[in-house]
Amino acid sequence: MDINNIKSSGSFDMGHVSYLIIDDRYLSSASISSIYADKITWDFNRLIVHPKMRGKGYASLLIGKVVEFCKHHKLLLRCGISPYGGLDFQQLKNFYIRHGFQETEYEDFVVLNFSDTAVFDITN
Ligand SMILES: CC(C)(COP(=O)(O)OP(=O)(O)OC[C@H]1O[C@@H](n2cnc3c(N)ncnc32)[C@H](O)[C@@H]1OP(=O)(O)O)[C@@H](O)C(=O)NCCC(=O)NCCS
Repeated sequence: MDINNIKSSGSFDMGHVSYLIIDDRYLSSASISSIYADKITWDFNRLIVHPKMRGKGYASLLIGKVVEFCKHHKLLLRCGISPYGGLDFQQLKNFYIRHGFQETEYEDFVVLNFSDTAVFDITN
C-alpha cells in the first residue's frame, strides 16, 4: 500500500476530515470532527479497517494521517477506546499510545494534544 494512495475528504474549515483507503473494493477509514466553534478540540469519530484488509498496517497508515493533521493544526483530539473487532482494548490502547496519544483520567479515553489552549473534557 502506497501512502500516497490514501484519499481524504473534508477540511479544517469544514470541521470534519476523513482519510480513506480503498483496496480491492474494500473501504477502510478514519474520521475526525471538531466539537466546538473554535475548532481546537476534535473528536475521533471512527477508525475502521475492513475485516478482509486487517493486519496489513492500514490502521497505522490512517492514524499517521490523523496525527499529521492534528499536529499541523495544533489540535487536541480526544478518542474513546471501544473495540469491536480486530484488536482488543489493551492492544488498541497501546496502539494509540505508540502513535503519540496520552492516557487520561478516564480509563477508556486517550488524547492527542498539540494544543496550548484546549481542555480535555468528555462531559461536553
Ligand atoms: C482496530 C483496527 C482498526 C486495526 O486495523 P488494522 O489495519 O488491522 O491494524 P494494523 O495492521 O495497522 O495494526 C495496528 C497496530 O496494531 C498492532 N497489532 C496488530 N496485530 C496485533 C496483535 N495481534 N497484537 C498486538 N498488536 C497488534 C500493529 O503492530 C500496529 O501497531 P503500530 O501501528 O504501532 O505498528 C481493526 O481491527 C478494526 O477495524 N476493528 C474494528 C473497529 C475498531 O475496533 N476500531 C477501533 C475503535 S476505538
